[in-house]
Amino acid sequence: MNLKSNIKIYENALQASIEVAQHITSIIQKNESVGKPTVLGLATGNTPLLVYQELVRLYHEKQVSFQKVITFNLDEYYPMAPHHPQSYVAFMKKHLFDHIDIDWKNVHIPNGELITDDIPLFCKAYEDKIVAAGGLDFQLLGIGRTGHIGFNEPESSLESLTRLVDLNPITREDAIADFNGLNNVPKQAISMGVQTIYKAKEIMLLAFSEKKSDIIQKAIQEEVNPQVPASYLQKHPNITYILDNESASKLKKQLS
Ligand code: PGA
Repeated sequence: MNLKSNIKIYENALQASIEVAQHITSIIQKNESVGKPTVLGLATGNTPLLVYQELVRLYHEKQVSFQKVITFNLDEYYPMAPHHPQSYVAFMKKHLFDHIDIDWKNVHIPNGELITDDIPLFCKAYEDKIVAAGGLDFQLLGIGRTGHIGFNEPESSLESLTRLVDLNPITREDAIADFNGLNNVPKQAISMGVQTIYKAKEIMLLAFSEKKSDIIQKAIQEEVNPQVPASYLQKHPNITYILDNESASKLKKQLS
């Protein structure tokens, strides 16, 4: 099949994730060699799990250190206490941060415990911290069935920045198993905006399984459309789509 060169299709999620982890490692090493920190935008959900597993393995093999890495997570549910088992703080600790040498002061995850009035200032400070760190060198992304990136649900604008957002019903439905019932799934989240993500120097959007095949086809091959926020990324100068055979199964032949 003839597809754009920034679409990479792998036999399975493990092979794809090994390659992504290797790429992240090489960015860290390259920056380290010139005395620069690396600023990573990180994602939660099922999709990046094997990338984190591989990064932990590479750390244990002493192939990479995270001492000079600064991270910004895409989002956190709201309201959400950090010690709640479904918080993204708990997720990141369990799958990555508890197993590597990252300095906790370099870790940033939106605060799900704020009182509502304090959220706008927090969000502005989150944006400022990304800029002060030098911008995101690399953004790791999944994609929701709604086409969301972070929790930028349909109708999010390209200009959107970190803010409080409402979760789409499909997104909440997809979280039912994690929260043991729809009533327990938060209705809101604090999420980086589309623009926050778009400003990353490099982006890899990962999607695995048949469940993602429809939205991947729309996000990559249909017109840029606010109903599919991931489609904004088609215009990004340095994006790679990392797919498995199943998520790529509905892509159509293209000439360029
Ligand atoms: P998933 O979620 O990785 O659990 O499929 C992706 C997303 O919602 O961005």
